[in-house]
Amino acid sequence: MKKQTLLACLIATSTSLALAATGEPIQPIPPAKITNPALVELGKKLYFDPRLSKSGFISCNSCHNLSMGGTDNIKTSIGHNWQEGPINAPTVLNSSLNLAQFWDGRAADLKAQAGGPIANPGEMAFTHPLAVEVLQSIPGYVADFKKAFGTEKVTIDEVTKAIAAFEETLVTPNSRFDKWLKGDKKALSANEVAGYKLFKETGCVACHNGPAVGGNSFQKMGQVEAYKASSPAEGRFAVTGKDADRFNFKVPTLRNVEMTYPYFHDGAANTLPEAVDTMARIQLGKKFTPDENAKVVAFLKTLTGEQPSFRLPALPPSADATPRPKPFEKK
Ligand code: HEC
Ligand code: HEC
Repeated sequence: MKKQTLLACLIATSTSLALAATGEPIQPIPPAKITNPALVELGKKLYFDPRLSKSGFISCNSCHNLSMGGTDNIKTSIGHNWQEGPINAPTVLNSSLNLAQFWDGRAADLKAQAGGPIANPGEMAFTHPLAVEVLQSIPGYVADFKKAFGTEKVTIDEVTKAIAAFEETLVTPNSRFDKWLKGDKKALSANEVAGYKLFKETGCVACHNGPAVGGNSFQKMGQVEAYKASSPAEGRFAVTGKDADRFNFKVPTLRNVEMTYPYFHDGAANTLPEAVDTMARIQLGKKFTPDENAKVVAFLKTLTGEQPSFRLPALPPSADATPRPKPFEKK
C-alpha cells in the first residue's frame, strides 16, 4: 500500500471511530445519582401508598406499575370508581428525561405533575388538603418528613417534591443497545444492528433521538397520513390554543418499549409490529416489508434497560385518628 493511501485510510478509520463514539443520534442513559436518600425513600413510600387516593385503593403504582415497565399495560387507565380514563398511561421510567410531562406537556416537570393525579377526580379522586391531613396523622410519615425536610409539618409541596425525587431515580441504564453504543459490539446481533440502521435511514430518528429515544419534542401524530384516534385528545393544542399545535403529542420515549404496550396516546396499537407499521406509514410515508418491520422491532427490544431494583417500602401504619378511605361512592 502506498504511504499516502495508508495515511488516508488511517484518517478515515479514526474518523469513523470518533463518530461511533459521539456521532450517534441516540446516547446511553446515565445512571441515577442519589443526593438525598431520605427524600428518595420518602418519595418511594408515597409512590406506593394508596392512602393518597379517596378509595384507599389506588396508588401511583396502580397505573405506573414498576413491575410492568412503569405502565398499566391497558388501553386507557382505570381510576376511581372503575372510571375508564381518556388516554393511555405513559411510562414513568426515564420520565425525568422528558422536556415536559403528559402527552400534551401541560406539566413543566415531575414535581408539577405529581400533584395532578392525587386530585384528579378520574384518577385518585382525593384533594390535596385531605392527602396532607392523612399523612400528617401518621406518626411514621411525620418522622420521615422530618428526616427529609427538617420539619414535622407536611405540605403538598413536600409531597410532590419527594415523589419527583423518587421518580428521578427511575432511569434504566445498561440496555444492550447502550452497551453496544459504548463499544461492546457483541451486545447486538447482526439483525438488531440492521434494525437500528433502518431506524436511522428511514427517518425515525428525526423524532426519536437523544438518551430517551424520544421525550424531547412535540410532533404531529400523522405527518404524512391522518391518524384516526379512538380518543378525543387534541394534544398540545389543549395547552397552547394554537392551531398549528392541533394533534401534536409529546414524542414518547422508546426506552423499554417492549414492556410498555399498548401503544400511542389512545392505546390503539397492541403490538410493536403494529405500532412500527403505523409509524412508518403515517409519519414517513413508508411501507416496511415484514422483514424490515421485524428488524426494527428486534432493534427496539434492545432498548430495554435495567429495571428499577429496590426493597419494597414498608408503609407506616395509619393511626387511630387517621381519616379512613371511602372505597365506594354512594350515589
Ligand atoms: C388512574 C391511573 C393513574 C394514576 C393513579 C396515576 N397516573 Fe400518572 N398518568 C396516568 C395517565 C393516564 C397519564 C397520561 C395523562 C395525560 O397525558 O393526559 C399519566 C401521566 C403521568 C406522567 C407523565 C409521563 C409522561 O411521559 O408524560 C407521570 C410522570 C405520572 N403520570 C406520574 C404519576 C404519579 C407520580 C402518580 C401518583 C401521584 C400517578 N402518576 C398516578 C395515569 C395515572
Ligand atoms: C414526525 C415525528 C415522528 C417520526 C418520524 C416517527 N415517530 Fe414514532 N412517534 C411519534 C409521536 C408523536 C408518537 C406518539 C403519537 C401518539 O400517540 O399520538 C410516536 C409513537 C411511537 C411509538 C409508540 C410508543 C408508545 O409508547 O406509545 C413507537 C413504537 C414509535 N413511535 C416508533 C417509531 C418508528 C419505528 C419510527 C420510524 C418508522 C417512528 N416512530 C417515526 C413521532 C414520530
